[in-house]
Amino acid sequence: MNFNKRYSDYKEIFENELKSRIETINSSNQTLKDAMVYSLTVGGKRIRPVIMLAVAEVLCVDFNKVLPFAVALECIHTYSLIHDDLPAMDNDDLRRGKPTNHKVFGEAMAILAGDALLNYAYEIVLRSITDNNSLSAGRLLALYAGAFGMVGGQALDILSENELKSEATLYKIHENKTGRLLLASTLIPSCLCGNEGFDKLSQYGKNLGLLFQVTDDILDVTSSVDKLGKTINKDANENKLTFVTLYGLDGAKKYAKEYYEKAKLAICDFEENEFLIGLLDFIIGRDH
Ligand code: IPE
Ligand code: IPE
Ligand code: MG
Ligand code: MG
Ligand code: MG
Repeated sequence: MNFNKRYSDYKEIFENELKSRIETINSSNQTLKDAMVYSLTVGGKRIRPVIMLAVAEVLCVDFNKVLPFAVALECIHTYSLIHDDLPAMDNDDLRRGKPTNHKVFGEAMAILAGDALLNYAYEIVLRSITDNNSLSAGRLLALYAGAFGMVGGQALDILSENELKSEATLYKIHENKTGRLLLASTLIPSCLCGNEGFDKLSQYGKNLGLLFQVTDDILDVTSSVDKLGKTINKDANENKLTFVTLYGLDGAKKYAKEYYEKAKLAICDFEENEFLIGLLDFIIGRDH
């Protein structure tokens, strides 16, 4: 299997779908739409849609059923990044190698672009609900994107800047702020086919999500602005609770390896698991 080729094939399928969806965004004014489209198209690995398509292929779920959820999830992820970069949160100037949304459009428009992307995501989801399986996929996305997932994790991340610096909090932050959207990308295809493989994909997705954020913490201190497309050494400066700030670089790397192994074990008896294992190698070895 050629991992890079398969990754770029999935990515291309997703980019085509996204492009045609973007053309249909209704907005009462052009500036808001420009702000939404700027962040959606400025780059990004598209790892969540790629995971969704890869899991769909393993479970034999029709891509046409999964793609609306992949676009919705990427819209939610993109809005989370726009808000994450705001001065009130991480105060970042660079994202995906380009100025952050608020640097280009101003803070107010960046907040609104995030709000609009979130609503657009559910507009897409609601349009694609045709049966109980798609309904449960939509409910899972809503649950994991909100206070019980990404938003809840972001709240804890902010609270931990000044207090709550414990191992338990660190795990909870990572499990939620990053883990739940990645978990959603492994579980939505399963929901769409009546929960086939749900428990194993759940273990895979949870550990993959933790691995992803530990790697993000590591890259903050080991990578470069050019490779990463975002500011480095940000976490210590902002007094963030991360695997690196709590355990040091070597400690963080040990945890990354542990989550990698757990994720791999969860899907070891899946047929056609090569690409899903390849994704773990991609995440642990990534430099951006
Ligand atoms: C960045 O996510 C934010 C985290 C959850 C760590 P990605 O690393 O997936 O960012 P893009 O989409 O590729 O820019
Ligand atoms: C953000 O985590 C996770 C989100 C939900 C956006 P980080 O704050 O570490 O992400 P980066 O490093 O800015 O991409
Ligand atoms: Mg943050
Ligand atoms: Mg940030
Ligand atoms: Mg980070």
